[in-house]
Amino acid sequence: MRHLLKLEDLTREDILSILNLADQLKFERINGVQKDYLKGKKIGLIFQKASTRTRVSFEAGIYELGGYGLFLSSNDLQIGRGEPVQDTARVLSRYLDGIMIRTFAQQEVEDLAKYGSIPVINGLTDYAHPCQVLADLMTIREYKGSFKGLKLAFVGDGNNMANSLIVGAIKTGMSFAIACPKGYEPDKHLIEWAKENGNITITQDVKEAVKDADVVYTDVWASMGQEEERAKRIKAFAGYQVNKENLSVAKNDVIVLHCLPAHREEEITAEVFEAHADEIFNQAENRLHVQKAVMVKLLK
Ligand code: CP
Ligand code: NVA
Repeated sequence: MRHLLKLEDLTREDILSILNLADQLKFERINGVQKDYLKGKKIGLIFQKASTRTRVSFEAGIYELGGYGLFLSSNDLQIGRGEPVQDTARVLSRYLDGIMIRTFAQQEVEDLAKYGSIPVINGLTDYAHPCQVLADLMTIREYKGSFKGLKLAFVGDGNNMANSLIVGAIKTGMSFAIACPKGYEPDKHLIEWAKENGNITITQDVKEAVKDADVVYTDVWASMGQEEERAKRIKAFAGYQVNKENLSVAKNDVIVLHCLPAHREEEITAEVFEAHADEIFNQAENRLHVQKAVMVKLLK
């Protein structure tokens, strides 16, 4: 494993090995025995979109492991003024040991890895959010013990989260179901891949997706970069909500996850959100542990 660009590039063994290391790092942190696994390592954190969790968990995680994280906003970098990513990659490779990037096009992340000579981590694109899904898998395993035979149901937009969850679920042996309006399905190549490699259901019926689910997941109806579609999307997604009624057909011990930020009374009711807040905020915490594991694997 040289980079973390998308989960498709990882084997099932890669994923489990990251999760195992993340569990170990979480244990070490709780017990105050964490070592400087990233001592002397400099990691650039490029953001072309807003972030709370990704920025802070990467910065805090790098600090805790003895490394140095440089927050690089595209507003300040020449990349924001049109310097090509190919050149940025080659320049940053001469100064740094690794790069995390949050941007729009997946191709930009792939190009950064292709033209640079240091590990690249995808911190969210329009296509994928692998760091988030690794944290989600870690959280699911904490609550459920293992993945085998679990059903993960996603309610809402077939966006970057849905794309990465499909891959994460299928690679770990879960079945995946998504309820989304027509025209808002996940990436069609990933759907084909999932059909060949596991069990996937795509439906417009929320209860069909949620029925007997062990994990119910949702995300915003309008992602970053889609702000101008917000009004149209609010109409299209009406009813695609994680609420008490829709959740009533899931398993009794269902957990509810949300990558955050959440829009209460849109994709999830405040009532369900608060009832499952422990799961959702443990999930947010696990970003820290899982990303530390990814950095240690790629940089050590
Ligand atoms: N879930 C997530 O990536 O959150 P941020 O956008 O705050 O980084
Ligand atoms: N789908 C959301 C996820 C945010 C973490 C977005 O891309 O804005």
